[in-house]
Amino acid sequence: MSAAPHIPVLLAEVIDALAPAPGERHVDATFGAGGYSRALLERGAEVVAFDRDPDAIGGGQPLVAEAEGRLILIEAPFSAMESELDARDLAPVDGVVMDIGVSSMQLDQAERGFSFQGDGPLDMRMSQSGESAADFLNGADEGEIADVLYHYGEEPRSRRVARAIVEARPLATTAQLAAVVRKALGHKPHDKKDPATRTFQAIRIHVNRELGELADGLVAAERVLRPGGRLAVVTFHSLEDRLVKRFFRERSGSMPAGSRHLPPAAARAEPSFEDVGRAVRAGEAEVAANPRARSATLRVARRTSAAPWVSGEA
Ligand SMILES: C[S@@+](CC[C@H](N)C(=O)[O-])C[C@H]1O[C@@H](n2cnc3c(N)ncnc32)[C@H](O)[C@@H]1O
Repeated sequence: MSAAPHIPVLLAEVIDALAPAPGERHVDATFGAGGYSRALLERGAEVVAFDRDPDAIGGGQPLVAEAEGRLILIEAPFSAMESELDARDLAPVDGVVMDIGVSSMQLDQAERGFSFQGDGPLDMRMSQSGESAADFLNGADEGEIADVLYHYGEEPRSRRVARAIVEARPLATTAQLAAVVRKALGHKPHDKKDPATRTFQAIRIHVNRELGELADGLVAAERVLRPGGRLAVVTFHSLEDRLVKRFFRERSGSMPAGSRHLPPAAARAEPSFEDVGRAVRAGEAEVAANPRARSATLRVARRTSAAPWVSGEA
């Protein structure tokens, strides 16, 4: 693999939060380059790790061998965590960690199409299967593209960008897409942020159903954690963090009464999480060593003995 290895973000804080002990079983929902899994194994825990990217699963095989039976690596979306664990009789578990988003390996390999730094095919699929970014952009109608850019990229001029994309179709490469967005929005070489950033984020989130996966993954974690089990979630932008924050507030009963997010029946359910800590951000030293850590937010909560809330409440 030519890409630089992924540096785990907030590693010490995540491991502190999970407090793994020998004999415990933890889920690493987003294996990536295995940074968290390795640290959990070093603490004597068993690890069941998920990744939907076949490259991550392939890259993890040496660690599976090294772990001598204490690491199980599963190629599946983490939304399927409950059924995958049940099928192997591995639930309940003592901890779940989710490190949301793309890995450095995915970003740095131009042929995966996640980045406009180098030129590659408009792909962006973590699982390397299903609808690609090119399929979506060349097939969807203008309104649908605009909605994706607006909701997932928070692109204020989503309609203008969507129109430019439709006029430029068919699009095949990341460089083509970046050029279309820059032309539509105006781009000065010294702009701090490339105007294509928001469009790329939006399309990536859409193609990988990232927010749906996150919501489903949180519900699955609630169902597989034993009472006292810990859930740690690292996110990289406000759309994801808002979702995690809201989930923890609801499930711990600290959502203000009458919240528009909660149906009345759900508001009466017993809290399924407690000890929801404040958001943790990377310190200066970590950000200096790993710029990716700048936008990371960690949230942690502990599972209570209450029944999981019925699905549809996330
Ligand atoms: C930020 S990286 C994780 C890095 C990892 N913590 C490490 O230390 O190397 C995210 C990884 O999660 C995977 N991923 C993202 N969303 C996923 C999902 N819904 N289900 C399974 N894997 C997912 C990606 O393919 C990627 O490899």
